[in-house]
Amino acid sequence: MQRMAGDWVRGRTKVGFVPTMGCLHAGHLSLVRRVRSLVGSKGKVVVSIYVNPTQFGPTEDFSRYPRDLKRDLRLCRGAGVDVVFAPGNEEMYPGHTGPSFSTYVVEEALSKGMEGQSRPTHFRGVTTVVAKLFNIVQPTVAVFGAKDYQQAAIIRRMVRDLNFPLKIAVAPTHREADGLAMSSRNKYLEGDLRKQALALWHAIETARAAVRQNAGSIPAHSLKSRLKQIIEREPAARLDYIEFFEPETLAPQTGVARGTHMALAVFIGKTRLIDNARL
Ligand code: PAF
Repeated sequence: MQRMAGDWVRGRTKVGFVPTMGCLHAGHLSLVRRVRSLVGSKGKVVVSIYVNPTQFGPTEDFSRYPRDLKRDLRLCRGAGVDVVFAPGNEEMYPGHTGPSFSTYVVEEALSKGMEGQSRPTHFRGVTTVVAKLFNIVQPTVAVFGAKDYQQAAIIRRMVRDLNFPLKIAVAPTHREADGLAMSSRNKYLEGDLRKQALALWHAIETARAAVRQNAGSIPAHSLKSRLKQIIEREPAARLDYIEFFEPETLAPQTGVARGTHMALAVFIGKTRLIDNARL
């Protein structure tokens, strides 16, 4: 089966795809470089820019999510992107406000915990829009960032389960010099909040050090409460969740050891940031 799909792909130009919600930063550009390396100079690189309403909850930041299409187009041109697909809502969800859009793609296992628990309709919106984008762009390969670790795992599962004829690659998280994971939402961090946002990276570093110093496994609940204390020492920081899990199945772990994966979500003021790392 896999050979058939491969032969079919070989008959056409390779298309590399990076789906984004715009407000591009160096992390996105690293995904573009990665996809270019996968499709080669004869391949085509497509970037989509679309702030997808269905992945935001009713009280989330959809309307204020940063948008700057002119700047994004300039960055894409500079990065050697061949095509930018920047649809409007009517193009993606015809009649979305009425009864004429009613089909969604739902992953039912990996999307239950972590982000799925805190944002119950989020992944339904992500899988639906990504499935639609795959059908429109028809890429050979798509690249996702490891910063959204759970999202990447769910997309891989969707591609496997629904036989989408493309490969998924995951590129490492791009960080600022001080460790903050790059995110379009970092734009919200004004004044002192930028410094306080380092709480996520400090929590990851603390967990890594704990694992290094411990030959056996550390009880997840005690490490979680230690990290929560460290995070919430920052006056504007409020922990949403920390999870320790098995990196393939995303199954929560009660003991934390080398190789366990950690993810966390923290509110810094009104801004909700996520990060993750292998310990
Ligand atoms: O990771 C993102 O920016 C979004 O979730 C994606 C994959 C572009 C879907 O809207």
